[in-house]
Formats: sequence, C-alpha cells, structure tokens
Amino acid sequence: MWSVIKGRWTSPGLELRMNVKNYVRFEFSSMPENVSFARSCVGAFAAQLDCTLEDIEEIKLVVSEAVSNSIIHGYNGSTDGKIEVMASIFDNGSLEIIVKDFGRGIENVEQAMEPTYSSDSSRMGLGFTFMRSFMDEMDVISEPGQGTSVRMLRFFPSQNHQAMA
Ligand SMILES: Nc1ncnc2c1ncn2[C@@H]1O[C@H](COP(=O)(O)OP(=O)(O)OP(=O)(O)O)[C@@H](O)[C@H]1O
Ligand SMILES: [Mg+2]
Repeated sequence: MWSVIKGRWTSPGLELRMNVKNYVRFEFSSMPENVSFARSCVGAFAAQLDCTLEDIEEIKLVVSEAVSNSIIHGYNGSTDGKIEVMASIFDNGSLEIIVKDFGRGIENVEQAMEPTYSSDSSRMGLGFTFMRSFMDEMDVISEPGQGTSVRMLRFFPSQNHQAMA
C-alpha cells in the first residue's frame, strides 16, 4: 500500500537522490488520545535530523493536524477506525510523513485544501493550510468511501549541505 503512495511521487531521478536512511511505521485506533502519541513519536523521530526545536514543534503540529482530521472527519469521531503513520528520513536530509486513514474520504480535495474551508461550520478550516505552510511539499490522495492519505515532505539541509551550497 505504501509503495503505491510513494510511487506517485518517486520518479527514478528522485530515487537516486533520495535513499531512505531510516523510517518508522505505526498504526493506532482513531481515539483522540492517540493524537499526542502520534505527534510525540514523529517529533522524537525527527529529532535525528539537523533541525531546531522550533522545527520539531512545527513537525508535531502538522502531524496533529493530519491525525486530528482522520479522527474528526475521516471517522466522524468513531474510535474504532485505523490510522497509519509512516515517517522516513532520506539521505539528503528530507523528512517524509504519511498519515493514512480508511474513513469516509474527501469528495473534493481541491476545495478541502482551500484556506478556511471546512465542512464543519464550527471549525476554522486551517489544518491543511498549516500543513502546506510548514512543509515543503504536501499531497492529498483521497477516495470517497475508501479513505485519505496525506503525504508531507520537508527538507532540512544539514550544516554540511549548506556549506557546500
Ligand atoms: N482525513 C480526512 N477525511 C475526510 N475529510 C477530511 C479529512 N481531512 C480533511 N478533510 C476535509 O477537509 C476539510 C478541511 O480540512 P482542514 O484540516 O483544513 O480544516 P478543518 O479540519 O475543517 O478545520 P481545522 O483543521 O482548522 O480544525 C475538512 O473540513 C474536511 O471536510
Ligand atoms: Mg483539520
């Protein structure tokens, strides 16, 4: 399943430049208590990168937003859904995060990603906007009735990379 998602963006050229150095993958039930579990796990994983505490806070925030969306919208608050998270560090200093649910999916992804759009009038509609602004790349793959997968990528150039640039 992951290879399909990764296949969408991994062109042969990109693969050459980006070998996976380390990864974690975990799944959990769609209980609100697990939002903090997922954000802490990915934050701890990202700490291996050459990044600041502020960067880690931003990574935790985007994970919270994506996982909360799966719980609130994907599973409509039901706690027996499954959420998968995969985080990978590539040898060029990129961090990729994929958050996947098997919930109700999104009818119109373009509309859902518009700043301040929400299907729930009591919400701000800013989750995707935060994800997009804190990460360098973001794609959403969703199929109504099948689920949603959010892939985010952020590049953390190491001091060595910066010195060479
Ligand atoms: N995993 C998901 N499954 C189904 N629908 C989703 C999912 N993620 C997002 N959506 C849809 O996309 C819309 C926009 O999401 P976004 O996170 O930007 O805003 P929000 O969750 O409505 O509000 P906020 O994040 O500010 O609390 C949601 O209102 C919802 O309709
Ligand atoms: Mg949201």
